[in-house]
Amino acid sequence: MRKTISLLLSLSFIFSLAACGQSENPGTSSQQPSASNSLEVTDMQVPENFVLIKGGSFQMGSPESEAWRSADETQHPVTVSDFYMSKYELTQKEYKEITGSNPSNFKGDNLPVENISWLDAAAYCNIRSERDGLTPVYTINGQNVSWDRSANGYRLPTEAEWEYACRAGTSTPFYMENSPSAEDANYYGHYPYEIEDNYFSQGNLQIKPGEYRQTTVPVDSFSENPYGLYNMHGNVGEWVWDYYGDYSADEQTNPAGPASGTLRVYRGGGWNDFAKNMRSAYRATLEQNKGSFNLGIRLVLNAAPGSGSVSGTGAQNTSADGNGKILIAYFSWGGNTEGIAEEIQSQTGADIFEITMVNPYSSDYNTVLDEAQRDQNAQARPELANHIDNMDEYDIVMIGYPNWWASIPMPVASFLEEYDFSGKTILPFCSHGGGRFGQSLTAIAKLAPNAAMGEALSIHYSGGSELSGDVSEWLNSNGIQ
Ligand SMILES: Cc1cc2nc3c(=O)[nH]c(=O)nc-3n(C[C@H](O)[C@H](O)[C@H](O)COP(=O)(O)O)c2cc1C
Repeated sequence: MRKTISLLLSLSFIFSLAACGQSENPGTSSQQPSASNSLEVTDMQVPENFVLIKGGSFQMGSPESEAWRSADETQHPVTVSDFYMSKYELTQKEYKEITGSNPSNFKGDNLPVENISWLDAAAYCNIRSERDGLTPVYTINGQNVSWDRSANGYRLPTEAEWEYACRAGTSTPFYMENSPSAEDANYYGHYPYEIEDNYFSQGNLQIKPGEYRQTTVPVDSFSENPYGLYNMHGNVGEWVWDYYGDYSADEQTNPAGPASGTLRVYRGGGWNDFAKNMRSAYRATLEQNKGSFNLGIRLVLNAAPGSGSVSGTGAQNTSADGNGKILIAYFSWGGNTEGIAEEIQSQTGADIFEITMVNPYSSDYNTVLDEAQRDQNAQARPELANHIDNMDEYDIVMIGYPNWWASIPMPVASFLEEYDFSGKTILPFCSHGGGRFGQSLTAIAKLAPNAAMGEALSIHYSGGSELSGDVSEWLNSNGIQ
């Protein structure tokens, strides 16, 4: 059933374009580690704009009391050694200087490079190491990348190093005492921390909704964290070395994540993320051969030689070639996703299935906002009213949903957990009110880690007159006629 909600939704999820702040050019400023901090750096000069992060021990992950935490943030004690980290996200200028290309969606020398895959990032580190007379740390063999910890070249931080540096000694959700406002960080500023719980009582919010810039900003914008690092929360997410996997609850020293996997982790949130997804402990994921306009990198260097080699076996889930049997499964509250599903069906002739609940959400808009945030915060798995008996027959499952609070509605989580998607390709399609996918692709990847993920489609509300063309372009990009 469709409901007439477009006016309400367009009012609620309205956004504005705005200019972004600019300060000093990071290429010209320099901060060497102070003498009291500096370690022996045997055979290299510390590059401009890198700061020494003195190692130490911390609680990695989030306490169970933290609002909007995920189950995969299990707190555990971790010790990291000293390392150098760039004060800034890598700029487009730095990327172009080495590679001659610039894949970024938003263009500007002093903006962070984005839209680079993890594999591109590893390759960049190696080439820049060679240019600077350092020893490349990565051996790249197709999807498999191993890391020589004794090499002194540029590299990505480990997940533990990243979180340690971001926290800068804090144990709060963000490194700043109060959660960030849009004046403190570049994110989806309409949605400060905990707005979901206080949408109708914004007087309770510690930080009021602010600007949503809809673009990256120069890498030296805003204030640095206590360790001298800029934009650890927001602007672009940052790839780290680690494959995604469950944390061990045991104490660890210099952990580097699982030895193999299908997803790499990225951290810190970007211009398109709600504040909850910029938390110091929040873990986002993507396949290592993909990029996003919301995702860049920040480089680190060893402060003293490490030892050993960390292997990385990149298991890539095989995707269907576009010729397999297709199922379109969708959840829709207001009818927009349903309209997109029907357009896909009319272009493909595929089987179509609506995900419905035993206890459906309220048809009242204000009530469903509350219900949705309650279920999401509790990571509820609502019982579904209908089921697919012949899931084995499908090679490609297109999963449609509205963006709800920057993620998937929880009935979609119930659906993803009900079936085994190994060997299948998931093609997500999402209807949204301005937030594109939010972190919904991370949510799907975590719930169906053995599926291959094809190109995803995001449609603003119902898509209007462009829907048909957008759908056919998307089908083509996935090899489907
Ligand atoms: C509970 C709820 C939460 C929403 N959260 C978001 C959001 O975080 N970002 C966004 O862009 N749109 C958000 N929207 C807007 C919907 O994604 C958008 O209206 C979509 O077209 C609805 O699809 P549907 O008609 O299939 O339900 C939200 C809507 C509802 C009802």
